[in-house]
Amino acid sequence: MNHYAHITGWGMSVPEKILTNDDLAKIVDTNDGWIRSRTGIYERRIAGPDQTTASLAIEASLRALSVANLRSDELDLIIVATSSPEYLFPATACLVQDQIGATKAGAFDLSAACTGFIYALNIATQSIRSGTLENVLVIGSETLSRLVNWKDRGTCILFGDGAGAFVLQPGEEPGGLLSAVMRSDGSGGDLLCIPAGGSRFPTSATTVQDGLHFIQMNGSEVFRFASRVMVQATQEVVEAAHLDLDDVNLLIPHQANQRIIESAARGLDISMDRVMVNLDRYGNTSTASIPIATCEAIEQGRLKPGDHVAFVGFGAGLTWGAAVVKWSGPFPSPRKVQPQRYRRLVRLRSIFLRLIRQIEGLIWGRGK
Ligand code: COA
Repeated sequence: MNHYAHITGWGMSVPEKILTNDDLAKIVDTNDGWIRSRTGIYERRIAGPDQTTASLAIEASLRALSVANLRSDELDLIIVATSSPEYLFPATACLVQDQIGATKAGAFDLSAACTGFIYALNIATQSIRSGTLENVLVIGSETLSRLVNWKDRGTCILFGDGAGAFVLQPGEEPGGLLSAVMRSDGSGGDLLCIPAGGSRFPTSATTVQDGLHFIQMNGSEVFRFASRVMVQATQEVVEAAHLDLDDVNLLIPHQANQRIIESAARGLDISMDRVMVNLDRYGNTSTASIPIATCEAIEQGRLKPGDHVAFVGFGAGLTWGAAVVKWSGPFPSPRKVQPQRYRRLVRLRSIFLRLIRQIEGLIWGRGK
């Protein structure tokens, strides 16, 4: 263990389009009062036709790099935690790598549903602390609106689209991620899943007809599971960081349901003013919910350098996890990097690489 892994940059991106509960009531048999009282959600963001999991991830990443004052070609690894990847393969992380110009970075997707961001944060931290890697970009990005059944009122009211990203960098000062817990219980895999489209049930006319490509969920079972594990995982991770719950300035839970969050706060005996909640405006954005909530907590002055923050999440798999972070902020540096300014160049680079590949194909007898 050489270094601490500090979170030095953060960024978020959400689509402009807002879908309110009243809008939903025009599509399915529901109403604003029911959704608010059972979930705490008022509205969610929905990706436009040109927005995808990768495009939201790219926006969030460029903002995070700009805060960290880091060039994209200084990144060693990009992890995209997502439940709505653009393809089974290639990884969405590779699309991000290409479009931000992270020329020296490895890239992979991490599939642990809504817990994915916490898993990715821990993997990134361990890679840095072992001395293997230096600069890692961790992203949670989703366009779940493309995977929900808009005729199923039990699920379509819950989810929203968006992305959040953190930059992690090594430093000698104690700080960054202090402890993490990663857990799973595959016996509950059927409680929240998309049954078809993978190798188990490949896409066929029948799978499409039966709606097996949409999110299916046993809401009350997931509710019970979530309320239980949020408390356990938070207690465990705080203890592993050799802290007391009183030392935690802010709890940032996965933004799935206000009642689940309140029940966790009661179980932990902490008041709601130490808990970050923004699901009223975004719904459940799966892997993106924790980094989006973090960005807004910073913006609202609720998370400052030196503070201890606990992240806790749960999701399909079943998976759950938690992390305690001593918040750092960007490293001081005289230079000013503006990754947004190079977007055109980066796109040109990608086109150039494709062109070279085509020319090589012609020269070396492509398709023979
Ligand atoms: N609008 C109006 N009524 C609805 C409704 C909706 N959108 N969805 C369900 N109902 C109805 C049900 O049909 C049922 O009616 P019935 O009693 O006549 O059969 C009634 O409301 C209660 O349904 P139930 O499923 O027991 O409600 P609930 O209190 O458990 O709330 C969830 C449903 C989905 C909001 C809740 O279970 C939940 O949030 N679970 C966790 C889900 C989650 O977080 N998933 C993501 C994990 S990462």
